[in-house]
Amino acid sequence: MSWKDDYKSKLRTAEEAVKYIKSGDRVVLGHAVGEPVYLVGKMVENYKDYKDVEICNMVAMGASGFAKPEMKGHFRPNSLFLGGGTRDCIGSGQGDFTPSFFYQVPELFRTTLPVDVVLINVSTPDENGYCSFGVSCDYTKPCSEAAKLVIAQVNSSMPRTLGDSFIHVSDIDIIVEQDTPITELGLPKIGETEKAIGENCAKLINDGDTLQLGIGAIPDAVLLFLKDKRDLGIHSEMISDGVVELVEAGVVTCKNKNFNKGKMVIGFLMGTKRLYDFANNNSMISMNPIDYVNDPRIIGQNDNLVSINSALQVDFMGQVCSESVGLKQFSGIGGQVDFIRGASFSKGGKSILAFPSTAKGGTISKIVPLLTEGSAVTTSRTDVDYIVTEYGIAKLKGNTLRERAKQLINIAHPNFREELEKERKIRFKEV
Ligand code: COA
Repeated sequence: MSWKDDYKSKLRTAEEAVKYIKSGDRVVLGHAVGEPVYLVGKMVENYKDYKDVEICNMVAMGASGFAKPEMKGHFRPNSLFLGGGTRDCIGSGQGDFTPSFFYQVPELFRTTLPVDVVLINVSTPDENGYCSFGVSCDYTKPCSEAAKLVIAQVNSSMPRTLGDSFIHVSDIDIIVEQDTPITELGLPKIGETEKAIGENCAKLINDGDTLQLGIGAIPDAVLLFLKDKRDLGIHSEMISDGVVELVEAGVVTCKNKNFNKGKMVIGFLMGTKRLYDFANNNSMISMNPIDYVNDPRIIGQNDNLVSINSALQVDFMGQVCSESVGLKQFSGIGGQVDFIRGASFSKGGKSILAFPSTAKGGTISKIVPLLTEGSAVTTSRTDVDYIVTEYGIAKLKGNTLRERAKQLINIAHPNFREELEKERKIRFKEV
């Protein structure tokens, strides 16, 4: 059978497609803005047919109707990273959180968490019958290879991204044609604090370095201060709009990369239509599964790899919590530790955790003597390298606990320094 005939034989309406999901199934959703929101919406509408369907995902960018209180008993979210749509549900006990390094998520879906159904959102097929995973290759592609049943929304709005980012029509079980725009993420607000943090991070970045940029305003602020650099490379779990500007300005060329030269190696895209249009058929972008992009052993093959991520709290020893406020799970591990460890394998590599010195309108210091009880240690004190706030740079790796505390207090908000210094003196028996 030609792939075109195969394609036609697999066409269903969305209402028909979601009936293939059965009670008790584990269903994985395509990641972040790659979530097939149309199919997920139809699945939620069909909730009365399901009992105890487990929904696994990470960054949830859709409406997450399956996580609403009235869905209890029908759907049971099991997220590996929380977002706005799933946080309350999991906090209330209606769902669960499974901690994992991002690069190990595909292996979990191949072994411990076998996948019954995956719902994906892909481009229209090319002349050879290959659909692109578009904005989300990360766990979405490996999970599609592991799932018993692959239901795909074929979406003409999905960019055709290149790299190891394709699925052939013969590997899809059910096809739903539906054009829905790819969810856009508003540009982060960059104020004076973010700018100062960006400026400090930029001091640690040299011409020719290869960058990983995490999620949010801080990495975008860093990009603002890189306009005078030359020949930067990208090897990053994700990118957003800021990188497009640097490519267009000739700053990001990837020419200096010793590994995957000339290519930006990426797991997923999250930004505005400008980013998605830029990525379409762009040979400079190589989208890849996350067990490649985020594997610390792969990351470490890039010389001068600089990773930039954010955090919620750091204690005097350099233990970093980036995912919970006390016992309340806020997000997840994502690729933070993958890149911190990858940067430590990289010749000339550095890892930066950058965040504003305070939270809650300046009332809370993010630099604290002890982490809040119940907080998860995302990055251990042994892995941590640089911490950056709007007040400066602390180099923790290789320094004593006493020196770490001193450096961290130097970059804490001035309103909290005296109190922190008092605690430090008690801790290190200096009184
Ligand atoms: N104590 C109490 N609350 C705190 C706090 C602290 N020390 N620090 C932050 N908060 C609160 C904020 O006030 C905010 O609350 P709100 O939602 O009610 O306004 C919330 O926690 C989020 O803080 P914010 O600083 O706005 O987070 P962010 O959107 O910049 O994201 C991380 C920062 C750390 C949560 C995010 O980068 C993350 O999840 N990292 C882990 C994964 C990762 O690094 N992946 C790598 C690349 S994608």
